Amino acid sequence: MRAVQVKEYVKGPMDLQVSTLPTPSLSPNEYLIEIHSAGTNFFDLLQIQGKYQHQPPLPWVGGAEFAGTVLAVPTSKTSGSRYKVGDRVFGATQGAYATHILAAEHTLLPVPKGWSFEDAAGLFVTAPTSFGGLVHRANVQPGDWVLVHAAAGGVGLAAVQIAKAYGATVIATAGTERKRQIALEFGADHVIDYRNKSWPEEVKKLCAQHRTGNGKVGVDIVYDPVGMIDASLKCVAWNARLLVIGFAAGQIEKVALNRVLLKNVSIVGLHWGQYARFEKEAVGTVWQGIFDLVAQGKFRGTAFKDESFVGLESVPRALQALGSRGTWGKVVVKVVDDDAAKSKL
Ligand SMILES: NC(=O)c1ccc[n+]([C@@H]2O[C@H](COP(=O)([O-])OP(=O)(O)OC[C@H]3O[C@@H](n4cnc5c(N)ncnc54)[C@H](OP(=O)(O)O)[C@@H]3O)[C@@H](O)[C@H]2O)c1
Repeated sequence: MRAVQVKEYVKGPMDLQVSTLPTPSLSPNEYLIEIHSAGTNFFDLLQIQGKYQHQPPLPWVGGAEFAGTVLAVPTSKTSGSRYKVGDRVFGATQGAYATHILAAEHTLLPVPKGWSFEDAAGLFVTAPTSFGGLVHRANVQPGDWVLVHAAAGGVGLAAVQIAKAYGATVIATAGTERKRQIALEFGADHVIDYRNKSWPEEVKKLCAQHRTGNGKVGVDIVYDPVGMIDASLKCVAWNARLLVIGFAAGQIEKVALNRVLLKNVSIVGLHWGQYARFEKEAVGTVWQGIFDLVAQGKFRGTAFKDESFVGLESVPRALQALGSRGTWGKVVVKVVDDDAAKSKL
């Protein structure tokens, strides 16, 4: 197989190289998958530099998210395996920047009907994080107003779609005109440039114009993958829920707790990766909810389309683009160019 193998930590993604390695042998407990597309994540960038919390012993293959087809089922499960040879699956496990990967059954899900590998490769982390946050933790309801920060990012675009699907009104923040346009394309009702320091005032103005009663002073839910809880407390309604999703801005915030008391609000954390460990039953419920939205046409893939990344050789460029903050949605590498293969037929 071919793979982006990390033999020693690198300074940045442009130092990564593609190697030829033995294709994994059949395994008693894992599926052998042929990867068609691989999703990129910020933690991949940290991992190749040796700065991530999970560092396998060198050498290892980079990447975590993938979508592809089953080439072989676990040898201990030749009958009764959930997936069959040829099934289209997506999932996440170490080593996605490769043509082949071994993956355990619990790390795989079926590619939704009609979805490309490219879109499915970016689904495994973002969709359940946003669904788990908004539905499971914040109990989003029809009529709620939801403020989604960094709305054109990976988890942000998922959050916009889920909040809309549950009947909420969405105010989306993003740092560039292109990103705000993307947030609108994915269903946001209002967009705000949060590089402008007065953005909480703009949120309050929108709520005062369009809402009644308690909602006149602010939003009911804040979805925050950036680290903007403290500023967001200025524009929330009574009983609001503020979701702590991440710290993309690079700083762990300190929050003025007096505002939490005065406005009777809840600050709610979400660590999706730990649900499989601490709350297994929620994992299936969350995925069922996502697949239902997909089937109803209320949730679509968010693969970044302004530039394409084809072949494993484009992994360095894809990671560099991701790190530059200029992309939107999920930056996905097409390990196999399915569109080109189709057009040749
Ligand atoms: N809690 C969980 O279980 C969970 C699960 C998945 C991800 N996360 C976290 O959620 C965060 C977002 O993940 P993602 O996949 O959506 O990432 P992403 O696609 O890279 O989006 C992050 C967005 O954050 C904004 N941003 C603000 N300040 C930034 C800065 N200094 N550098 C880079 N971006 C900045 C950018 O939007 P603008 O340019 O519009 O500002 C960017 O689009 C990450 O911190 C990630 O670790 C948490």
